[in-house]
Amino acid sequence: MTQPAPRIRHAIEADLPRLTEIYNHYVVQTPTTFDLEPFSVDERRAWFDRYAAAGRHRLLVADDGGKAVAYASSSRFHQRAAYDTTIEMTVLCAPEAVGRGLGRALYERLFEMLAPEDIRLAVALITMPNDASVALHEAFGFERGMLLPEAGRKFGQWWDVLYMLRRMP
Ligand SMILES: CC(C)(COP(=O)(O)OP(=O)(O)OC[C@H]1O[C@@H](n2cnc3c(N)ncnc32)[C@H](O)[C@@H]1OP(=O)(O)O)[C@@H](O)C(=O)NCCC(=O)NCCS
Repeated sequence: MTQPAPRIRHAIEADLPRLTEIYNHYVVQTPTTFDLEPFSVDERRAWFDRYAAAGRHRLLVADDGGKAVAYASSSRFHQRAAYDTTIEMTVLCAPEAVGRGLGRALYERLFEMLAPEDIRLAVALITMPNDASVALHEAFGFERGMLLPEAGRKFGQWWDVLYMLRRMP
């Protein structure tokens, strides 16, 4: 029997421990995020509280049998007010859930929800190399922008960051 496809929905507070676990995997094991130390669930609550079920800043999860296996978010890009119409995208699958179409499913739903919002530009910052992330963003109309050379130091080495940009229709 085939498994039902994961359901895409807004994150709820009960997802926070699992979302923290997914994020911490990428903090500890990879240069994907430039945080260096893992978070406790409580420390991650302020991040979770930035999102809502309406407006520009959303947090969606792929729910597989009641468990979040991936998430995507649209976040504030910069504190200064004229940047309100720019959002920063994030998408992370749990390590066992990569390559199953969840990144695509999350972005499809997220961009559909964001379409009526007053947003001009979506930005993704990608630590290089990351073929899967670049492919996903290109599939959603992002173009390669500036490469920030050696923008971060993690695990004792320098990492380049690629800005990918999407003008919102
Ligand atoms: C990047 C990531 C979110 C992509 O999500 P995913 O569910 O694995 O990707 P999908 O299966 O939805 O595939 C999306 C597209 O990328 C392509 N793709 C996926 N993995 C790829 C890879 N390793 N190399 C090249 N292309 C790849 C797919 O072919 C697909 O394109 P298509 O739909 O036009 O055929 C996921 O791999 C991930 O969480 N990786 C680790 C964390 C990370 O790097 N996050 C991004 C931070 S910027």
